[in-house]
Amino acid sequence: MSPDPPVFAGIDTTVPHSARRYNYWLGGKDHFAVDRESGEQMAAVFPTARVWAVQNRAYLRRVVTYLAREAGIRQFLDVGTGLPTADNTHEVAQRIAPESRVVYVDNDPLVMTHARALLTSTRQGLTSYLEADLRNPAVILEQARETLDFSQPVALMLIAVLHFVPDAKADSYAVVRTLVEALPAGSYLAISHGSADYLPAPTAATLEAMARAGGEFQLRSASELARYFDGMSLVDPGIAVISEWRPLDDDRPDPADVACLGAVARVG
Ligand SMILES: C[S@@+](CC[C@H](N)C(=O)[O-])C[C@H]1O[C@@H](n2cnc3c(N)ncnc32)[C@H](O)[C@@H]1O
Repeated sequence: MSPDPPVFAGIDTTVPHSARRYNYWLGGKDHFAVDRESGEQMAAVFPTARVWAVQNRAYLRRVVTYLAREAGIRQFLDVGTGLPTADNTHEVAQRIAPESRVVYVDNDPLVMTHARALLTSTRQGLTSYLEADLRNPAVILEQARETLDFSQPVALMLIAVLHFVPDAKADSYAVVRTLVEALPAGSYLAISHGSADYLPAPTAATLEAMARAGGEFQLRSASELARYFDGMSLVDPGIAVISEWRPLDDDRPDPADVACLGAVARVG
């Protein structure tokens, strides 16, 4: 095990954080003891948490590739960025279209300390990073305007972040609506979201009880996910387990081992 990363002011290493736990599952080195413990506790209930993390990252790559190559998107607003790892949104997009612009947003101060790795834009493109909470969409929009031109299409990426906005904490549907209403026609919304839809009933019940007790996350079903896309046109294949969304490999995990749904839709 590599040593813990340095502790910067404002980073609480006594409370687990989703970005660091995800980094642990992905085999990264930016996590503290508390994140590893929390990761192991979740893996005791959902033993394929690592399969989920790897599949989610692969989904993000396929989504950005689709948006840049097929939908012609050149601007991305990536909320819930996570700690930098291989193939961050701007790297995937700028490989296809070097002029792509990306605004990264996360509420974990540790992600901010790594922002330099997210800001390695091509000369023709631009990336910026802002520390903000998804639950404050007005703040995100105001600051994102410094980098993105909201008269041109923007892809709003909410990849593995909405499940960290439980109903008890905020109205995630209103948050998404506020962000989407700021986007011009021809923009896109891309989501991935933890779901119990494919889980065996006992695992689903334990995970849902864990979610309720901790108040940190909430699983949502396909029909709950569909509400985020109200009034938009879903891109084929619609709402699917993320590993089944435009897959590139024949060798794919069992949907129950992934337990995460995703979809991409066109706005307007
Ligand atoms: C599981 S990671 C996903 C990272 C990346 N989107 C991906 O799919 O690879 C979730 C990220 O969302 C961030 N996050 C959680 N709740 C958030 C909130 N309310 N506002 C902004 N970011 C949040 C976490 O800090 C973490 O970096």
